[in-house]
Amino acid sequence: MFSQLPNCITSPPWWQLLKWIADPIGFQKKYSQKYGDIFSMQLGGLGSYVILSHPQAIQEIFSQDSKFDVGRGNKLAEPLIGRNSLMLIDGARHRRERKLLMPPFHGEKLQAYAEQICLITEQIASQWQIGQPFVVRAAMQKVSLEVILQIVFGLTEGERYQKLKPLLTAWLDMTDSPLRSSMLFLPFLQQDWGTWTPWGRMKRRQRYVYQLLQAEIEEKRTKNNHNQGDILSLMMAARDENGQAMTDDELKDELLTILFAGHETTATTLAWAFYQIHQNSDVLLKLQQELDSLGENPQPMEIAQLPYLTAVCQETLRMYPVLPVLFPRITKSSINIAGYQFEPDTTLMASIYLLHYREDLYPNPQQFNPERFLVRQYSPWEYIPFGGGSRRCLGYALAQLEMKLVLATVLSNYQLALVENKSIKLQRRGFTLAPDGGVRMVMIEKR
Ligand code: HEM
Repeated sequence: MFSQLPNCITSPPWWQLLKWIADPIGFQKKYSQKYGDIFSMQLGGLGSYVILSHPQAIQEIFSQDSKFDVGRGNKLAEPLIGRNSLMLIDGARHRRERKLLMPPFHGEKLQAYAEQICLITEQIASQWQIGQPFVVRAAMQKVSLEVILQIVFGLTEGERYQKLKPLLTAWLDMTDSPLRSSMLFLPFLQQDWGTWTPWGRMKRRQRYVYQLLQAEIEEKRTKNNHNQGDILSLMMAARDENGQAMTDDELKDELLTILFAGHETTATTLAWAFYQIHQNSDVLLKLQQELDSLGENPQPMEIAQLPYLTAVCQETLRMYPVLPVLFPRITKSSINIAGYQFEPDTTLMASIYLLHYREDLYPNPQQFNPERFLVRQYSPWEYIPFGGGSRRCLGYALAQLEMKLVLATVLSNYQLALVENKSIKLQRRGFTLAPDGGVRMVMIEKR
């Protein structure tokens, strides 16, 4: 039994914070080599965090969900997505909100969006010119932003759509490097002195986004055109057990949450997939053969069921977790995890990266090897790209469908190549990790 935190890193807390911001992967690798499956870090000004990476510990956390607060642990994201966000609430309120939000993101509803995802991809890929290099991550961000705007917000044209698109990109790009991300972790940088400070510029853009979203909600309501099939219309029509709808503030915060959680994450993972597929010519060949086997104009849902394409997406999500760790879980009472007795108010974080690079689960983990997912099935605590338990990613089904359809659409119609033959590092981008430089590619020919 331990009342103290296990394996505490001894360097000064401010130093640990700087390292965590600048290089969260190098930081975790270093201390897992030193301490093994569990260690504790202290981030100056933010508090202590226990990092865990053993599958059994992760299973114990997921199976005792109700004993943790998660929303409270996500406070750092509040200035970006608002306090009503699903990510920031706990308990009964979280359960209610998830129930209201889940249906549009799953099952039949999702299938209806497949066609639209392929069209969006075709439209953006058709702008690539033979021989002209482009940054894949930026191109994929255009695709995933368009998917969120059209499918979630229900916007395809008009003045509001034209304004929101560049505004949202500029807003999210404000944390596109480790240095620029530091304002999310260092409260003293969160000063709103108008356009003089980065924080002030970010808040201004955010206020404008909120105004545009409010106008969109009001227009949908007055025109009484709730049922256009987009996710916002479904969110507005949803009612809880007491017949209550979501308030406008809840709707706006959830829209920003979905945008914030769903658009960069999918774009980044797609960029890594393109990178690995074109680093490994055998993977590209197998994928093309599998896609060709479907013949001309396959149904999107046939594509989504292809086993090798699925394995390529799974392996990409294994090697390149978008979040270095899952959401923090704060103990509500004393609890035993991994043989350690933790006091109330201890923050536990499962490391996606360390789990996904365990030799005992993923032999030769540095190698991109989709076949590992064809020969073995991993349990929900051995493979966690979308987290787990009651906080499992709301958009996991949409994200995987989008990944497969985008890859299939591009690989069936274009031949691409990497501009440089070099290995690309993970770099912090806000709360996420992205490929340094964004992966430069070039179109060689149309297929
Ligand atoms: C490849 C793409 C994506 C990845 C890798 C990813 C990953 C994650 C992870 C790791 C979590 C934390 C889960 C936990 O701590 O247990 C999460 C939560 C969440 N994700 Fe995703 N995500 C992706 C795409 C999306 C999309 C497309 C959406 C929405 C359309 C979305 C919406 C959310 C939301 C709302 C939460 C918070 C859930 C809650 O607190 O109940 N994500 N995601």
